[in-house]
Amino acid sequence: MAAFRSKRNPFFASRYIIIFIILGAIISADAILGRKKKKKKQEAEFAAQKAAEETARKEKVIVLGGKDFEKKSVYVLGCGTFLALSVGFFLSSGIKKKKRGNNDVDGTLDVVIVGCGLPKKGMGWYHLTQLLEMKQVNVRAVVEPFYLNKKVCKDIPNSFKELMVSLHESGVECVADINKLVPFSKATLCLIAGRTSDNPALFRQCVHKGASVIYLEKPGAPSVRELNDMKALAETQSVKTYIGYNKNVTPYVQKAIELSQKVDNSHVFFCHNNSYSQADLPEVFARNPEGMLKNMVIHELALLVTFFGVTVDVIEKFEVNTRKLFSEKITTWKPGTSMPNPEYITDFSRVAFLIKTKKGREVSVMADRCGGNVSFAVVKDAKRREIKKFEFPDTDTARRVEEQVRADPEMMPYFFIQSDDYLELKNRVINATLAGKDAEGVATISIGIEALKLAEYGTAEINKALKSS
Ligand SMILES: NC(=O)c1ccc[n+]([C@@H]2O[C@H](COP(=O)([O-])OP(=O)(O)OC[C@H]3O[C@@H](n4cnc5c(N)ncnc54)[C@H](O)[C@@H]3O)[C@@H](O)[C@H]2O)c1
Repeated sequence: MAAFRSKRNPFFASRYIIIFIILGAIISADAILGRKKKKKKQEAEFAAQKAAEETARKEKVIVLGGKDFEKKSVYVLGCGTFLALSVGFFLSSGIKKKKRGNNDVDGTLDVVIVGCGLPKKGMGWYHLTQLLEMKQVNVRAVVEPFYLNKKVCKDIPNSFKELMVSLHESGVECVADINKLVPFSKATLCLIAGRTSDNPALFRQCVHKGASVIYLEKPGAPSVRELNDMKALAETQSVKTYIGYNKNVTPYVQKAIELSQKVDNSHVFFCHNNSYSQADLPEVFARNPEGMLKNMVIHELALLVTFFGVTVDVIEKFEVNTRKLFSEKITTWKPGTSMPNPEYITDFSRVAFLIKTKKGREVSVMADRCGGNVSFAVVKDAKRREIKKFEFPDTDTARRVEEQVRADPEMMPYFFIQSDDYLELKNRVINATLAGKDAEGVATISIGIEALKLAEYGTAEINKALKSS
């Protein structure tokens, strides 16, 4: 009806047109606005998608030097490089070590260490560390009869396992028994540093294996009788034997002896100190059951034989300073034993004595297990007035040693103190052997026998004196 009416009424017609236009405008405005909204929405969605992609991309890449690198590739490359560097380092250190260990080239001497002991503890181990650095040496093998023997040592200590790995990398054989080595076809030096009680048996094995020279740690054997037997065996096989008396080459001793030789009727007083504490003594006594004179004072006794011509046969007087401050004998519980079967061990913790020879030569010795790190020699004139005191280590060296001991408390302190002397002795023996000569100033087994005789004599004299004091 309305539509019919509009067809006929112009007012109605124009109103319809206006309404139509307005509606059209509204519709087109809405359409425009809708498109814009849609576009905005699309743009927002696009931006969100982009942002998500960027985040995902960033998670996959690493920016290096302003450039993107895919993380996976970087990791693969990084691991590869690390692996390559590690292998390179391992190989190069292996080669370096191999050179230092198995150094079987012209002009080197084969050396076998018998009785290595634990790193930082055993004398054999310390010799090994020095031998590995010596250019004229080919470390042929290491024999460790205790730590590699399952019957007496169930678990190999970790420090020894690590040593075995590094020896293996260096091409150095490491065995429990010298009989596992093939007989020596080249000139070979055996350095024996087992416990004193084990050394005679180890010595015989080395001779039978074909050693040409033996460097035997002092005192060589627990008794004069055994050392005499060893000397006889060595002579039948033409094996030269030296004993590692490092004080024979120590500069403070050399200087004191040199000065004393210039002074008429001089007297030298040797004082040898160890830095053990009172609490260490049970372990020290148990580890060195040969006793203080054969284990510690033996160094000074070897000096008396070598430089002062003192032997048991020429002693006129052996005077013990029995005051407790100078000589003391103690009995301690033996580590490793317990109730109800405790064991005890007796030894001197310190001793002091004077020897006068039939020719009137006088020399005195004091030794103290707990006296500290400094040892010395005092040269006195005919009226027993001090001329000069030679200390070792000197103040600077003592300070350096103290620092080294603090930095590495597990290391036996005497390795730091006597390092140069140990090296000097080995150099003399090895260089002389390579040159086909006798090593100068190094104690022979004959000197060792005389020193051991003095130790047996001195132990008996000190015991007698302390008993009657
Ligand atoms: N020249 C010096 O200044 C000096 C210093 C220290 C020792 N030494 C000498 O070196 C030699 C070795 O002395 P060390 O102090 O290295 O001895 P150590 O006991 O530390 O080791 C020596 C050997 O003893 C064996 N051993 C270790 N524990 C043992 C145990 N519980 N029971 C039985 N055997 C065991 C091992 O085979 C080892 O190789 C001795 O002859 C000693 O007199 C010399």
